[in-house]
Amino acid sequence: MSAPHRPTVLDHPLALETLAALRDRTTPGPAFRARLRALGMLLLAEACRDLPVATRWIETPLAGMQARVIARPLPCLVSVLRAGDGLLAGMLDLLPDAPVGQIGLWRDHASLRPVEYLVKLPRDIAERRAILADPMLATAGTAIVAITRLKEAGAREVRMLAALAAPEGVAALAAAHPDVRVFVGAVDERLDEHAYIVPGLGDAGDRLFGTT
Ligand code: PRP
Ligand code: URA
Repeated sequence: MSAPHRPTVLDHPLALETLAALRDRTTPGPAFRARLRALGMLLLAEACRDLPVATRWIETPLAGMQARVIARPLPCLVSVLRAGDGLLAGMLDLLPDAPVGQIGLWRDHASLRPVEYLVKLPRDIAERRAILADPMLATAGTAIVAITRLKEAGAREVRMLAALAAPEGVAALAAAHPDVRVFVGAVDERLDEHAYIVPGLGDAGDRLFGTT
């Protein structure tokens, strides 16, 4: 297991292929959406690798059996709006029964500080692993606020999923929330003067929703 302050970086060839398509400026909106959804699945799989398992009696068409399943309660999945919804779609493909929370934050272009407009979380979040999804971990201002809101609501174990991170964001998040494990597609070179990740993939929300 990697140290808590160091992100787990996906090294699966399918993740590499998916990330390359997301980065490519010629990838059209529908394909971008499909790729982000796929990456949500891959990231969630990695973040759930160590979940406890239990057994549940099921009947197949041929026989009864004790099937191995994730021990309840299931994790709670939390999307940072808007772009987190792109990863969330794939996460829900794998865990359709998981409760979902939403945290609405957008980054002010001048101050680069997150502006909050929604916090809606499952009541029993304290009993569940909370898995937060936002494709971009740039300065980490957004992630730090989102995780603070999760902890205020009672979350005791938080994991963060991102497609791409900047080294600056990784360091800032580790300083603010050292207990939170981070899972990413890649850690890129740097932030530019507008706090965009370089080489990155551009504006995740705009590419996902076609708002450029
Ligand atoms: C993007 C991204 C993160 C945030 C990352 O959202 O999805 O939430 O910026 O930046 P930070 O790490 O420097 O805080 P954006 O503000 O563009 O909002 P949107 O998803 O609503 O477009
Ligand atoms: N938000 C994005 O969508 N992209 C970045 O590179 C940084 C913040």
